[in-house]
Amino acid sequence: MKSLLHLKEKDLDTYEHSIRVGKLAEYIASRFGFDERMTDHLVTGCYLHDIGKIGIPQNVLIKSTGLDSDEWEAMKRHPSLGMTMLQDCATIDQEIIDIIAYHHERWNGTGYPYGLSGEQIPLLARWCSIIDSLDCMLSDRPYRKRLSLKEAKDELLLQSDQQFDKHLVHKLLSLSDVALTKVQTIDR
Ligand SMILES: [Fe+2]
Repeated sequence: MKSLLHLKEKDLDTYEHSIRVGKLAEYIASRFGFDERMTDHLVTGCYLHDIGKIGIPQNVLIKSTGLDSDEWEAMKRHPSLGMTMLQDCATIDQEIIDIIAYHHERWNGTGYPYGLSGEQIPLLARWCSIIDSLDCMLSDRPYRKRLSLKEAKDELLLQSDQQFDKHLVHKLLSLSDVALTKVQTIDR
């Protein structure tokens, strides 16, 4: 987790987002009865999913206006950068590395960096993608205000079978509104 502290120094917003995504992953794993190994992998992978952003130039990372095409291409390298960073760490399981590598893949094959589709995308990376997107929608961004929980839930449903695994979206939306929003308050 030393690398998370490095991320905190470099980009506080992404660090706090990562903590919220990890906390919601903990709740989901507990609520849906994931076994110990799967829980550990999902939670660790969700805390670390954006760790590759440590390798992105800071002017791109914290830019408050839209990214130009070169900057966007640089930003899209963060899943593979994160994968490379963690592959050097012998104690990290491949299933955790897969979450970092594939969390921006989309169910319909239009994601990055590999354009995987459907069940080619590892299950825990499909979970991380949904949790990540929910937290993004519920957070203020420099270029837009946060969505309401109702708007965010509607967007997850709209993107089912497009961006997300529909089965997992329905499982997530079976949780209470209180559970879905309580991770929005974190201790720094
Ligand atoms: Fe990401």
